[in-house]
Amino acid sequence: MRVTDTSDLWWKTAVFYNLDVETYLDWNDDGVGDLEGLAHRLDHLAELGVTCLWLAPFYPSPQRDNGYDISDYYGVDPRYGHLGDFVEVVRTARDRGMRVIVDLVVNHTSDQHPWFRAARSSPDSRFREFYQWRDDVPADQPANMFPDVEDGVWSYDDEAGQYYRHSFYSHQPDLATDRQAVRDEIAKVIGFWLQLGIDGFRVDAVPHLIATDDGAEHEFLQALRGYVSRRSGGGMMLGEVNLPYDEMVPFFGADDGDELTMQFDFVANQALYLSLARQDAGPLRAALAARPALARGNQWGNFVRNHDELTLDQLSDDERDEVFEAFAPLESQRIHGRGIVRRLPPMLDGDPRRIRMVYSLMFSTPGAPVLFYGEEIGMGENPAVRGRGAVRTPMQWTDEAGGGFSRAPADDLTAPLAVEGWAPEHVNVSRQRHETDSLLRFVQGLARHYRASPEIGWGELTLLESGHDCVLAHAVSSSTGTLVAVHNFAPDGRSVDLDLAPLGLDLGDGVRLTDLLGERTTPDEASAAGRHRVELEGYGHRWLRVLRPDEKRLV
Ligand code: GLC
Repeated sequence: MRVTDTSDLWWKTAVFYNLDVETYLDWNDDGVGDLEGLAHRLDHLAELGVTCLWLAPFYPSPQRDNGYDISDYYGVDPRYGHLGDFVEVVRTARDRGMRVIVDLVVNHTSDQHPWFRAARSSPDSRFREFYQWRDDVPADQPANMFPDVEDGVWSYDDEAGQYYRHSFYSHQPDLATDRQAVRDEIAKVIGFWLQLGIDGFRVDAVPHLIATDDGAEHEFLQALRGYVSRRSGGGMMLGEVNLPYDEMVPFFGADDGDELTMQFDFVANQALYLSLARQDAGPLRAALAARPALARGNQWGNFVRNHDELTLDQLSDDERDEVFEAFAPLESQRIHGRGIVRRLPPMLDGDPRRIRMVYSLMFSTPGAPVLFYGEEIGMGENPAVRGRGAVRTPMQWTDEAGGGFSRAPADDLTAPLAVEGWAPEHVNVSRQRHETDSLLRFVQGLARHYRASPEIGWGELTLLESGHDCVLAHAVSSSTGTLVAVHNFAPDGRSVDLDLAPLGLDLGDGVRLTDLLGERTTPDEASAAGRHRVELEGYGHRWLRVLRPDEKRLV
């Protein structure tokens, strides 16, 4: 395996993990998670196999949108600690072989940010032009991102005597990112955090950030990326672009991928849930077949759930209804007419076979996996919390009151814990560390195999024929090797005759397929003419390493 020529592109084979400091671990027992707490849990993350942390916004904020409403780009919300604690986290993470990326939220600020306060106070303020103003509301204004909360994207500000634009909540005025003065400020923010030792940014709300249609927007992303790369050799940008593939691709940059480094694959994510609802691999297979090729330095971020609603806006109305019916039968489990405010395990009725199948898919799909905190132990949501907060409950470390998150009284916790069958008493890290067959151990194993299989990050995808609609069979191949993965979306078992011909493999000549994830009672059968039979259990999954006769890899 060659290492030297690819090590700069660390994100190609990274295991990402997103957490919010606020809900991870409360070290001073005031009910709010803090950076010191996170520092004490970096070993958990390193053991899990995480190689890059993505920290949700921890900046000073009125906290009206989970910290995505920033009032100071250069600080740490005092509830979480201070910059010194942040640097300790970054340094300790490094020491454990983990990098850190942070959220870059520059589509908007909080209305409490000093820039907006100055801007609204006088038309003569030099910050007035940092935002977007109008004297009237245009007839054809675009829909707000929270259409059930906000009427549109223009709201009147009494103090300013004008309307200002906001793509999201009205307390989040959009910055005028086409202005050089604003871009200069954003560059300083980027420079500041890179200087503190981080390796990049998760870039919030990218399509809104560059709302013009004249091409100038891409010049802005190029400039940002160029700046990140100049300041930090390994610096990267992981963008949130929830659009169809043909509209996402331009955000990677036309010229050899010189804009966003990575993008979350929202298309495959939504198709995954349609496949799960139908017990049919077809929708996911079609999405993966349609995935555009990327430049060498770019990568997909594969995810199952994140801190927002599970958005299904790219499905047709009928498809979305199918997923709603299967996984969010109650109106209270849905939001904004397009999404589901649940975590995966409750949606799958806690069926461990199905939950494991989904994470096995995430780790074996070409790209880099992005975990949301708590997924490694199968945390559920708290349905009593309204809206997206339902999936943002505190991390569950132990079965104690407070879930090991905090010793503060329940009423003082920054967010309520999950309840009933999903409460810390039943789902927690401590117990799963001791159980050999726990989800935690399983996900740890997936991360280990992912890291030992650089072809998943670097390789080419081949979709294989499985002979069953419910079975997704795919292979990823690169110069380092080939991995074949098989996933069953149906509850009953299948004998799968894999056609390996598209891989150019002849299973004579001493080529073997070896099971990476477990011991099988039924041995796989290699048969002639490039076919290989796999017995797959209901909701079963397999990773098969292709071993050539001269193979030296450890399996
Ligand atoms: C992104 C975030 C979301 C936030 C929104 C506005 O979509 O993921 O949580 O509400 O941006 O900043």
